[in-house]
Amino acid sequence: MTMATRDHFKSRIGFILAASGSAVGLGNIWKFPFEVGAGGGAAFVMTYLFFAFTLCFPVMVAEIAIGRKTQLNPVGAIKSLGHKRWTFLGYLGVASGFLILSFYTVVAGWALGYFVEMLLGNFDIGNQFDAFTKDWIKMGLYSLLFMSGTAFVVSNGISGGIERAARILMPTLVVFVLALVIYALTLPNAMEGIKYYLQPDFSKITGDIVYKALGQAFFSLSLGMGALITYGSYVSRETNIVRAAAVITVTDVSIAFLAGLMMFPFVAYMTQGDPVGIREVSGGPGFIFITLPGIFESLGHSLGMVIGTAFFLLLSFAAFTSTISLLEVPTAYMIDELKVERKAATWAVAGTIYLIGIPSMLSVGAVESLKNFITLPGPGTMNFMDFVGLIANDTFLPLGGLLISVFTAYVWKKSNFNKEIRVGSHQSKTGFLEVYVDIAISYICPIILGIITLVTVFRNFFGIDIIGGLF
Ligand code: TRP
Repeated sequence: MTMATRDHFKSRIGFILAASGSAVGLGNIWKFPFEVGAGGGAAFVMTYLFFAFTLCFPVMVAEIAIGRKTQLNPVGAIKSLGHKRWTFLGYLGVASGFLILSFYTVVAGWALGYFVEMLLGNFDIGNQFDAFTKDWIKMGLYSLLFMSGTAFVVSNGISGGIERAARILMPTLVVFVLALVIYALTLPNAMEGIKYYLQPDFSKITGDIVYKALGQAFFSLSLGMGALITYGSYVSRETNIVRAAAVITVTDVSIAFLAGLMMFPFVAYMTQGDPVGIREVSGGPGFIFITLPGIFESLGHSLGMVIGTAFFLLLSFAAFTSTISLLEVPTAYMIDELKVERKAATWAVAGTIYLIGIPSMLSVGAVESLKNFITLPGPGTMNFMDFVGLIANDTFLPLGGLLISVFTAYVWKKSNFNKEIRVGSHQSKTGFLEVYVDIAISYICPIILGIITLVTVFRNFFGIDIIGGLF
């Protein structure tokens, strides 16, 4: 497709909002706080911030540059820049998009379902979480609704769909987060929560925390599967890529940070400030869906309804701008490579991914054989959804990031990459960030992401912990 006919983001801010929308998602508001809870608080936060800026930011610049240069989806982009042998990297990205979106929509469906329950004042839903996830008709409908909304936006294209949705949803999301943070900080014992969250204790940094913090930063910034190659392909040549990537990174970590500022006061309020309690309550994936509704209830019926409804609406919005980006990757592939028209491509991809997600949906409670789907040497018995997560999030993303770095530095070549990031920068001199990105993409990212990929494979599939002894 030529530049002239390809739909583009209308403005720089439109692109930044859409890419930040991709980044800010369940990863920030659902996953980040419980990872912090389990990872000993501030030690995890620091490690996460460190990786976001040193390691993830350069990969983000590389993805956007590849996309803008080629004006194509990941498969077409890699094919057009490199050796044909590298095309598999594009396919790896499209496959990751399929898999991640298949279960992401399930959890997004829960968020939507909880929004409705809060609106109805049903605080008991936290205790009924098991029954809720076993109710496959309800589950199926909520995720269908979510997927249809996503497909509707994506089918309307870049400027008329994705950019327009991000322009409305992202500012709304920020207002909601800020309002909830301010409210949470007024709760009794809020400061005890903040202490757990922000007072660093570096002795708590272990190999395991480093590993988890890096995985979280990578997922949260939507890296490693070409989501930003795809969004980058709709970016104008007037945009300064390095600066845009910096703004997106800062936005994403800020929202995660604010999510923690809201969540830990809630937990401390519930545990009356007891640090051991804070860790126990906040440190699990069930935290938002099991514990939080009860905390909202204790605020009083009407106030709890307002806060609870606002919270789950926020969570749904955050998830929505992310599912849009996940769906756009395979859709763009179909449009560019298979020459399918956008509307047909979107609905075909969305329908297929919805079907692939059904086993994940049923694996949380409804179907026993999917619940105890597989037993692996590392993590033990896992359900189907966690297994797909292990393959796509934990394995494919760092592998994709590793390959994108190596591809950029050594196949596409640094000189071409550096030329592309200078387009639109309007700077005569090479700045510090550009120099850093150059070094990181050639050495730091390949090495660290290579280690992470190996650790993941050994740990999960062979039960060998090669990082445990390091610290
Ligand atoms: N970053 C999103 C989150 O934090 C999830 C997401 C959207 C994503 N698009 C992605 C993750 C692409 C990896 C790759 O929830």
